[in-house]
Amino acid sequence: MEINRENILSVLGGILEPDLKKDIVSLNFVQDISYTNASINVTVTVSNPALHARKRMKEALDFNLKRAFGDEIAVQAEVKGASSEEQSAHRKILPDVKNIIAIASGKGGVGKSTVTANLAGGLAKMGFKVGIVDADIYGPSIPTMFDVVNQRPTMIEVEGTPKITPVVAYGISILSIGFFTEADNAVVWRGPMAAKALTQMFTDAHWGELDYLLIDLPPGTGDIHLSLVQTVPLDGAVVVSTPQEVALADARRGVNMFRMDSINVPVIGIVENMSWFTPAELPDNKYYLFGRDGAKNLAAGMEVPFLGHIPLVQSVREAGDAGRPAVFQENSISGNAFDELVRTFIENLKVLKAKTAQKTNA
Ligand SMILES: Nc1ncnc2c1ncn2[C@@H]1O[C@H](COP(=O)(O)OP(=O)(O)OP(=O)(O)O)[C@@H](O)[C@H]1O
Ligand SMILES: [Mg+2]
Repeated sequence: MEINRENILSVLGGILEPDLKKDIVSLNFVQDISYTNASINVTVTVSNPALHARKRMKEALDFNLKRAFGDEIAVQAEVKGASSEEQSAHRKILPDVKNIIAIASGKGGVGKSTVTANLAGGLAKMGFKVGIVDADIYGPSIPTMFDVVNQRPTMIEVEGTPKITPVVAYGISILSIGFFTEADNAVVWRGPMAAKALTQMFTDAHWGELDYLLIDLPPGTGDIHLSLVQTVPLDGAVVVSTPQEVALADARRGVNMFRMDSINVPVIGIVENMSWFTPAELPDNKYYLFGRDGAKNLAAGMEVPFLGHIPLVQSVREAGDAGRPAVFQENSISGNAFDELVRTFIENLKVLKAKTAQKTNA
């Protein structure tokens, strides 16, 4: 095939942008084309700015152009990640959700799901419309914490398209990866499959209007996190840690993940869970099992707001297992701690949004 602009465009028109599922020409993602009779230079944008996504696009360009024009052609492809403005212009995900917040940790078992469930419960108690996406593909626990393990989302038609309707508990809309797998049948999803299932909980679900959509992330800082934070327009992240050193190191990694250029999600703050143990019969006694103020100090060191301490109390675990989050126990130690957490969360999110608005208007 002769090398000219038209032929190059027709080859590029056959390359799909992997996230948006449309070809890069109709998306207007081809920024620049130049050529000689022995070389082709193209500059292309992809919506996902992560290195692996750009690399994959580079490979696709190289492969397709060489296949069309011959292996001896020198292909020079530059692939750029879309700016956040370009990203939101192409994003139609969840326009009716005011705040999308991820709850992350780094280390497993520190209480992400407990914090997610109680934050959601506390916000719902205040009258906000709240949703939860349980994105923990390794051990979804939100259905247990809301006693909806055996429920299944239903399908409805919205403007001719079938959509998943979340399960509702305590007025909170819930979708969990657990609803799509058999109970007790721990599914180890392969990366791309898991990413797809997760994305569908946002793109193919009917959430309606929500004030807050909380995402309970799996532990760690892996590919799932990357693909999720790049598909879903997150307004902020909450990082949960216990006060001990091993958890703090992972929490630091968690904060740094959100700060990466390719992710760039503001951290609303750090929550310290299991700050001290308090026995029910001696409510004034505090035992600092995992050390004292570790996560609080980490927050100060990383210049991230500290959102509060949650004590280790047996009733928190019992409430989780019984499917009624502890925040619903009025005037209890744990209920009060979570109510206070909800207040600092709302306050710090407000401050963050004011700052972002200032930056965009500047
Ligand atoms: N403050 C607390 N007091 C008592 N028990 C707690 C507290 N926080 C969490 N737990 C209990 O600890 C266990 C782990 O908590 P949770 O499932 O919330 O952690 P996670 O970070 O979501 O774990 P994973 O990484 O497996 O998703 C649960 O049984 C939970 O009930
Ligand atoms: Mg969890």
